[in-house]
Amino acid sequence: MTKTIWVLDGPNLNFLGIREPEVYGNRSYQDLKDTLQAYCANKNIALVHRQSNHEGQLVDWIQEAYYQKADGLILNAGAYTHTSIALYDALMAIGIACVEVHLSDPKKREDFRKTSYLSSACVKTISGLGFESYLKAIDFLYERSSV
Ligand code: DQA
Repeated sequence: MTKTIWVLDGPNLNFLGIREPEVYGNRSYQDLKDTLQAYCANKNIALVHRQSNHEGQLVDWIQEAYYQKADGLILNAGAYTHTSIALYDALMAIGIACVEVHLSDPKKREDFRKTSYLSSACVKTISGLGFESYLKAIDFLYERSSV
């Protein structure tokens, strides 16, 4: 049976390949989208992949994932990771397994990135592996019995 996984990306992730390549690499956001779609193509996974620079839009999509009965969620909230009680509340509200992902490892960067408001609302955090962080999150959700 096909499982549906939603990937939601937050602010500035659309600038991959432009922003700080020494931190985030040279590949573009379109490359990330293509990589994840190709990864899921051979599996029984339907991927919904969206990006927004706006916190409220991300809240709306988390709620939409609930109504659409998503089987799992992957969230790279970008800088909202370190600030957003609204995203934490949205994740707590929906009761769908969510994996927090990051391309870089925020714990090894500036102090203000060391706190995640979202980790405790997520079943797992995967950081510092570039695009591979997302692929591991897909595998994790796919292999979970609830997905
Ligand atoms: C990020 C890490 C965050 O601290 C930062 O604000 C981002 C990207 C990452 O994927 O490494 O925008 O979430």
